[in-house]
Amino acid sequence: PETHQILRQTCRDYADRELMPIAAKLDKEHSYPAKQVTELGAMGVMAMEVSEELGGAGMDYLAYSLAMEEISRGCASTGVVVSANNSLYIGPILKFGTEEQKRQWITPFTSGEKVGCFALSEPGNGSDAGAASTTACQEGDEWVLNGTKAWITNSWDASATVVFATTDKKLKHKGISAFLIPMPHPGLSLGKKEDKLGIRASSTANIILEDCRIPLSNMLGPRGAGFKIAMQTLDSGRIGIAAQALGIAQASLDCAADYAHKRSAFGAPISKLQAIQFKLADMAVAIESARLLTWKAALLRDSKKPFTKEAAMAKLAASEAATFCSHQAIQVLGGMGYVSDMPAERHYRDARITEIYEGTSEIQRLVIAGQLLKQYQS
Ligand SMILES: Cc1cc2nc3c(=O)[nH]c(=O)nc-3n(C[C@H](O)[C@H](O)[C@H](O)COP(=O)(O)OP(=O)(O)OC[C@H]3O[C@@H](n4cnc5c(N)ncnc54)[C@H](O)[C@@H]3O)c2cc1C
Ligand SMILES: *[C@@H]1O[C@H](CO)[C@@H](O)[C@H](O)[C@H]1NC(C)=O
Ligand SMILES: *[C@@H]1O[C@H](CO)[C@@H](O)[C@H](O)[C@H]1NC(C)=O
Ligand SMILES: *[C@@H]1O[C@H](CO)[C@@H](O)[C@H](O)[C@H]1NC(C)=O
Repeated sequence: PETHQILRQTCRDYADRELMPIAAKLDKEHSYPAKQVTELGAMGVMAMEVSEELGGAGMDYLAYSLAMEEISRGCASTGVVVSANNSLYIGPILKFGTEEQKRQWITPFTSGEKVGCFALSEPGNGSDAGAASTTACQEGDEWVLNGTKAWITNSWDASATVVFATTDKKLKHKGISAFLIPMPHPGLSLGKKEDKLGIRASSTANIILEDCRIPLSNMLGPRGAGFKIAMQTLDSGRIGIAAQALGIAQASLDCAADYAHKRSAFGAPISKLQAIQFKLADMAVAIESARLLTWKAALLRDSKKPFTKEAAMAKLAASEAATFCSHQAIQVLGGMGYVSDMPAERHYRDARITEIYEGTSEIQRLVIAGQLLKQYQS
């Protein structure tokens, strides 16, 4: 539809004009793109699925995927900031929050310059999120939370977080509940900023909860529904990470194809060499097929059909395409691929995370196989 094309073009222009020129600097200095995030907020991109009435853009997941790809093509770090606010923070509140919670935690508390985060992983358990050991105990009219959450994207820059903690250890994953905590808040502190391989402009740190007290009304969804909320959030979030990976892959191809025209070896542009052409062709095929999977997953979600398998397929295919394309791009650039004068080495570093967060590639394969085998059983 036309609205999607307009959005895609707007995000493409914004990425070319505002993100691409500063991405290398943000990466080098580990600096949070505060100004850009505010501008993207004004464009509606930071709260895509939220209704206009609640202060969002009122668009669908296909629109979100298109925006995520274009933004990540310009700067993958900015992409993850956008995704954490949209799919990880807003997503579960929109789906499981009461009307009151939506108004309090989704409509901007003040200026709309705030971002949120999602705290599921722990130092001792990431893939095995059901083993989370952070506790929430009811004391009078408060929940008291204790424990450490690990690797939390946006944590240093966030104004609120969705936290998963167990209200009943004996029930294992069925004892996990979700909570909303404003940031900063007494009893909540941040660990050091992780020194990462890529997406270095986004902050990642532990969130430490020590006797952290919140009102009973800050529980999100029913007691014991936390694991379900987390898994459904990640199902959707994976479409966003697939789109982020596509952006990185496309930026790698753009960089390689452009360079191939300009660079000469043995008296002719290297774009005339079949060895180089085949690399570009393989990159284009990997990107286009992953893009179609991503759009399919988004369209299924938008039409309220099951999409768990397709979202995992999209994330797996797109993240592997990003790793493959960024690797090939460095090869096409030769020595220039290995230094930070060109963006290829940043794409290579940024690509790698897409195979790890919101479920590693191994976990995506488990999800896909699980869904697949279920279909054959019936
Ligand atoms: C930069 C960054 C940002 C992040 N942002 C967030 C965030 O905002 N919120 C959040 O909650 N988390 C976040 N994470 C955490 C991320 O989701 C986890 O790192 C990821 O899920 C993997 O968990 P782990 O690191 O504990 O690895 P482990 O679970 O210890 O896995 C180690 C290896 O074992 C494999 N493995 C584990 N179990 C299986 C299995 N059953 N079958 C096959 N292989 C398996 C894994 O695939 C992996 O190769 C982030 C991580 C990073 C690095
Ligand atoms: C992030 O989402 C929250 C909740 O909807 C919203 O208040 C905020 O404006 C968003 N952030 C930005 C920078 O737009
Ligand atoms: C989960 O990780 C925490 C540390 O973060 C650890 O104390 C706990 O034992 C782990 N849970 C399981 C079931 O392994
Ligand atoms: C939380 O941890 C603190 C110490 O940091 C302890 O004093 C308190 O009893 C714990 N509370 C609960 C409810 O586990």
